[in-house]
Amino acid sequence: MFQTKIAGLGSYVPEKVVSNDDLSKVMDTNDAWIRERTGIEKRRYAEKHEQTTTTLAAEAAKVAVERAGIELTDIDCIIFATLSPDYYFPGCGVLLQRELGITGTEIPAYDIRQQCSGFLYGLQMADQFCKTGLYKNILLVGAEMHSMGLDFSTRGRGVTVIFGDGAGAVILQPTEDKSKGILTTKVHSDGTYAEKLAFLNPGTHGGYHLDKQGVDYDFGYDKSIEYGEIFMTPGMVENGHIYPQMEGQAVFKMAVQKFPEVIKEALDAVSLAVTDLDMFIPHQANLRISQFVQKRLGLSDEQVHNNIQKYGNTTAASVPIALTEAWEAGKIKEGDLVCLAAFGSGFTWGSALIRW
Ligand code: UT7
Repeated sequence: MFQTKIAGLGSYVPEKVVSNDDLSKVMDTNDAWIRERTGIEKRRYAEKHEQTTTTLAAEAAKVAVERAGIELTDIDCIIFATLSPDYYFPGCGVLLQRELGITGTEIPAYDIRQQCSGFLYGLQMADQFCKTGLYKNILLVGAEMHSMGLDFSTRGRGVTVIFGDGAGAVILQPTEDKSKGILTTKVHSDGTYAEKLAFLNPGTHGGYHLDKQGVDYDFGYDKSIEYGEIFMTPGMVENGHIYPQMEGQAVFKMAVQKFPEVIKEALDAVSLAVTDLDMFIPHQANLRISQFVQKRLGLSDEQVHNNIQKYGNTTAASVPIALTEAWEAGKIKEGDLVCLAAFGSGFTWGSALIRW
């Protein structure tokens, strides 16, 4: 069995900066509310019609490939995590293969649908592929272009102000050197809370889950929908049932419970303790969640890397962007024990321990 190492990492955020004040010009919100509740000061939006989730991913991937010292054609597997894909289908994996100009290699392209935890799920998958030696240069990407799918009216303010666009990528390789690389990954899910943070339409659900679960908050569904109505009626569009919705406090409560749990689970699995950690990279969901978890773990400010202030919550991209940024800033040194963790829609959550 091999061990899996991160051979290269990269990130990309679009140039357009959108401040809290910018959002307060189009909806009833304000800088103070957003900063106080989330820590977010600004976020980036990709250029509509010119960029997509896939093109953001391609930018990050090229940096990771170069840093790994390989050619694009050396990539032998793509794993793509996103909740904001270019198309309903096919997934972004094949689009990224085309965008990188490597369709001729006919490599497999997987798409991961675990939202905020997507990168961790992808990491576990890639780790197993590397351990068995099945692939030699796996490109794992987390990318989001939320800006095309948010409600910019006051109706959507509880969700819209949180999210931003961006991408992060890593190249994973099998190595015989057991002194570094991925030590363990842990991932979990609990579908009980599927609708607490969700983007339901368009979809084939026909209201089924909402009825069955007695969901009483306004996810909206028009029962007059007919076969062939692209899973959505004009009324649903008009009423805004085409946007993500979130029960923020329920997500918050569960996140602050599951983060420490899954980190401890990973540490226990390799007989290490919180005191062994050098760097913690939490999914950038909300600065308050990160601070809560930091306090619970007893970590110093220097041991935690947060960048939600600048980029908002970039979902599947947030962990690889923050990891890349921390590494570029020299905050992660050879031999360091790095912990990644995420929690989000599903609910899904996970952690990873990496010896750098
Ligand atoms: O990565 C995915 C995982 N997602 C998360 O981890 C999110 C976790 N949850 C959260 O981060 C927080 O719950 C939020 C930041 C989303 C919301 O903060 P909150 O303290 O839970 O606020 P709330 O939803 O309870 O809303 C409080 C008030 C409401 O007004 P009333 O009913 O008290 O009059 C909202 O209508 O704040 C209002 N509000 C806003 N006001 C100004 C909601 N959004 C906004 C806004 N600007 N953007």
